[in-house]
Amino acid sequence: PRNVQRSADGALTVAGLGVRELAAEFGTPVYVLDEDDLRSRCRDFRAAFDGVDVYYAGKAFLCRAVVRMIDEEGLHLDVCSGGELATALAAGMPPERIGFHGNNKSIAELTRAVDAGVGRIIVDSFTEIDRLTALARERGVRPRVLVRVTVGVEAHTHEFIATAHEDQKFGFSLAGGAAAAAAFKILDEDVLELRGLHSHIGSQIFDASGFEVSARRVLALQAQIRDARGVELPELDLGGGFGIAYTTQDDPAAPHDLAKRLRKIVDSECEAERLVVPHLSIEPGRAIVGPAVFTLYEVGTVKDVDGIRTYVSVDGGMSDNIRTALYGASYSATVANRTSAAEPMLARVVGKHCESGDIVVKDEFLPADVQPGDLVAVPGTGAYCRSMASNYNHVPRPPVVAVRGGQARLIVRRETEEDLLALDVG
Ligand code: LLP
Repeated sequence: PRNVQRSADGALTVAGLGVRELAAEFGTPVYVLDEDDLRSRCRDFRAAFDGVDVYYAGKAFLCRAVVRMIDEEGLHLDVCSGGELATALAAGMPPERIGFHGNNKSIAELTRAVDAGVGRIIVDSFTEIDRLTALARERGVRPRVLVRVTVGVEAHTHEFIATAHEDQKFGFSLAGGAAAAAAFKILDEDVLELRGLHSHIGSQIFDASGFEVSARRVLALQAQIRDARGVELPELDLGGGFGIAYTTQDDPAAPHDLAKRLRKIVDSECEAERLVVPHLSIEPGRAIVGPAVFTLYEVGTVKDVDGIRTYVSVDGGMSDNIRTALYGASYSATVANRTSAAEPMLARVVGKHCESGDIVVKDEFLPADVQPGDLVAVPGTGAYCRSMASNYNHVPRPPVVAVRGGQARLIVRRETEEDLLALDVG
C-alpha cells in the first residue's frame, strides 16, 4: 500500500498506525486495507479514463464499506452473483450504477436484478436471453443489456483466469457467429434494450495489445450489426484484467498509458468503420483493491529442513490466500515488527493447513533471525484473497481492517468458531 512506512523503532506503519498495535487490537492474520490508497486508485482510474465509466469488479473484494468507498469515489460496480448484488444494495449503491455479470445467473438472481433496477445486465447465453425476455414481459420492464462477446484473444496469463480464447465457458463466440446471433435475437425482442457489446479477455494482464485486438474485433461486430440492422450500439465495455505488481519483477502499465492506447485504437477503428464512438466502460477489480491491502501474520514456527530450506510457518495460509497454491502466484513477504541486522536467508512462508501445497510465499529472503512471535506482512493481497478465502481445516476467516489518517476501523469482523458451528445443524 502507498501509505506504508518503517517507523523509527523498525516496525511498519500504515497510514500512521503501527503493525504491532494493529495485531494487538485485531489479532492475526488480518487483512489491512489502506483506505486512502484504494481511494487514490479509484481516482487514478477515473482521471486516466476521463469520460469512461469505471466499474469496480466486486469479485476482487466486496463488503459494504468498500461499496460505499467505490460509490463515494464515483465508480460504478460490477457484481456477478445474487450475494454480491445483495451486498451492493445493502450498502446503498445506486442500482443504475450496477452491472450484473455471470454465465449462469439463476432466474431468482435475474428477478432480483430486474426488480432492483440494475443499470445493465451482461448476457452470456441464449438461455439467459430467453429467461430475461420472459421476466421483462412478466414485470413490464425493459432491461438494458450488453452482449458478452468471446473475441478469441489468447491473453498471456494463467489458463484459469484467461477468458477470451474460444474454448471456455464465458460469452458468445465471435468467430462462430453466436455473438452476432445473440445481438440480433435481443434486437428482435422489444422488451430488451441492447445497449452494446462487452468483452473481457482475462485477468492480471500486462500487455495492452490484447485489449487492442479485442477492441478492434468487437467494433468490427458493432459495424456488422449496424450494417445488418441499421442500429449503432451506444456503449462498449472492454472489461477488466489490468495487472498489478506482486513482486518487483512485475511491471504493470499505468492506467494513464492504458487509457491512451485504448482510446486511440477505439477512435481509429470507429473512424475506419465509420461508427459513432460508443460510450466506453471498463471493469478493473484487482488494480483498484489489490495493492491497497497487506495481510499481517504472526510467525508460529521456524524450521530448517536438512539445510535445504527454512520453512517459516504463519498463522494463516491457503485459507486466506489460495492464489499461490491455485495459480502459482508470486508474493513477497517482509518481517514487519522490526528490522534486523541478521543475514538474509532464503525462506518459504507457509501456512498452518494440512497439506504441503499450503504455501503463501514460495521464495523470499527473510532475516536469518526470524523467530516465533515476529509479524510478517504480505503485500498485494487485496484482490481475490479474502473473497476466495475458505474455512479449510475449520480455520475461521480473518477480518478486514480499514486504516486511514491514524484510525483503524473494523469493516469485516473475524469469523469465529461459533460462526462455523452455527452452520452445522446436524
Ligand atoms: N470483468 C469481468 C467480466 C471479469 O470476469 C473479471 C474477473 C473482471 C472484470 C475483473 O478482473 P480484474 O480487473 O480483477 O483482473 N481469481 C482470479 C481472478 C479471476 C478473475 C475473474 N474475472 C485470481 O485470483 O487471479
